[in-house]
Amino acid sequence: MKDPHKNQPGFATRAVHSGNDPDPATGAVSPPIHLTSTFRQEGVDRHLGYDYSRAVNPTRSRWEANLADLEGGARAFAFSSGMAAITALFQCLNAGDHVVVGHNVYGGTHRLIHHVFHRLPLEFTFVDCSDEDHLRQALQANTRLLFLETPTNPLLEVVDIRGIQALVDGRDIWMAVDNTFMSPYGQRPLELGADIVIHSSTKYLGGHSDVLGGALITSHPELIDRLGMIQKSAGAVPSPFDCWLLLRSTKTLALRVQKQADNAHQLARWCAEHPAIEKTIYPGLEHHPQHELASRQQRTPYGESIYGSMISLELGTVARRDRFFSRLKLFTLAESLGGVESLVSNPFVMTHGSIPRAEKEALGITESLVRLSVGVEEVDDLLADLDQALA
Ligand SMILES: Cc1ncc(COP(=O)(O)O)c(C=O)c1O
Repeated sequence: MKDPHKNQPGFATRAVHSGNDPDPATGAVSPPIHLTSTFRQEGVDRHLGYDYSRAVNPTRSRWEANLADLEGGARAFAFSSGMAAITALFQCLNAGDHVVVGHNVYGGTHRLIHHVFHRLPLEFTFVDCSDEDHLRQALQANTRLLFLETPTNPLLEVVDIRGIQALVDGRDIWMAVDNTFMSPYGQRPLELGADIVIHSSTKYLGGHSDVLGGALITSHPELIDRLGMIQKSAGAVPSPFDCWLLLRSTKTLALRVQKQADNAHQLARWCAEHPAIEKTIYPGLEHHPQHELASRQQRTPYGESIYGSMISLELGTVARRDRFFSRLKLFTLAESLGGVESLVSNPFVMTHGSIPRAEKEALGITESLVRLSVGVEEVDDLLADLDQALA
């Protein structure tokens, strides 16, 4: 199926072909991995466009072209991890700038702000971005960046990208959206008015729990200039092999993300009815507070609503949590998400361990909250695993 209203090949076609032209030197259909740090020059400053791999590498250029196309941006910049990408974004700021950050962003982003960037002359305010009045009050004359995550990790709160864009429209504020949880298959923030998209490509983009990576995608000329300079100057770039793994992985992004979301939707409906689960959080459930917004905002390239493959469950007590973890056979207790294999985690201790207890409890991240990352296995097998672990 083609993307509706777009005079270009469909998403799944671009996922396979963008950045993946056969190698001009040999015809190899799978692009070569340019494992080289440097490139021969014909004469001083006479070369084929490549001089040193921190600045530019052919395999990285292919991966960046692929990702820019999928997110609908003019440029993508690849980094060695999601946190390296977020660091590069903050490095675009000037001394004295103020940043508004969504209140339940990923724990690592919270730690980066509180333990690293807070020593620099930058101001940060955390707000509940689903509350427009709160957000409006948090904006200052020196606000330069609005940093959102939607859906949030691990509470799966959905933030209205288009609504917030309208709120800051006309002001000199870059709006950044961490799209790690949806991937460009499930949500394209640039189409909704964001200036820049962030990814931990470790997650759905990589999809096989075998590579760390991060990326920033934008069409904003000033951000393109700044990020180009930061990427080559600060140098937190991924290796050519990592870029190749990511380039290979996005060829199946549409298949994986759709199957994972279908599995998750079915599991979430089942969990919502289970007497041992006090609360099931999944944006695809009608009782989710932003279900209607998620249905509108989170769409496949073919216009269907999609709700992702993360589910959070409140089990009530630490004893029940630990019993559940110890009995699971297919869901592996591990950090991370978005891979083809199903994982389970305890955000309180694991992903959000560095956030003070009181702050976590105020947000609703309890010790007994568990987070599922649903993979592509047979849904009946996943269901049976949850069933026996909760019995
Ligand atoms: C939403 C989100 N953003 C950013 C990151 C950081 O990415 P990385 O672990 O690749 O540095 C993560 C990691 O879990 C994440 O979940």
